[in-house]
Amino acid sequence: MKKYILVLAVLSSLLYSKDLNGKKLFETHCWGCHHQTAVAFGPPFSEIASKRTKEEIQAYIISPKSMYKAFGYKRTVMTQFNLSDAEIESLSEYILSYKGK
Ligand code: HEC
Repeated sequence: MKKYILVLAVLSSLLYSKDLNGKKLFETHCWGCHHQTAVAFGPPFSEIASKRTKEEIQAYIISPKSMYKAFGYKRTVMTQFNLSDAEIESLSEYILSYKGK
């Protein structure tokens, strides 16, 4: 029983910190132009999540300049970021958590 509780505690802290991380990264880098479910300067995460795969989202964050045409935009005004793979992973998970919201 004790072991079971410990496993649960570790699992939930892992999940929680991962979520927090994506949210924090979003607030630091993206919130000026994207909101979770409302249209801002860029499209809302709920809309992005409903039409893109994780690979597409990651590719766009890594290089909007090489992806915008494939995504149907005439030009791109999105900032080019220099984020680590782990940061891009958490951000894409965070965006996808808004699918259907
Ligand atoms: C300077 C404003 C700005 C910032 C900052 C910004 N974006 Fe964007 N983003 C846009 C705009 C505007 C678009 C629409 C196409 C374009 O201009 O590139 C876009 C498009 C996107 C797309 C593709 C949308 C689609 O059609 O599926 C993704 C994914 C995305 N942004 C993710 C992010 C993430 C994640 C961050 C933070 C790391 C971020 N953006 C920061 C303005 C911004």
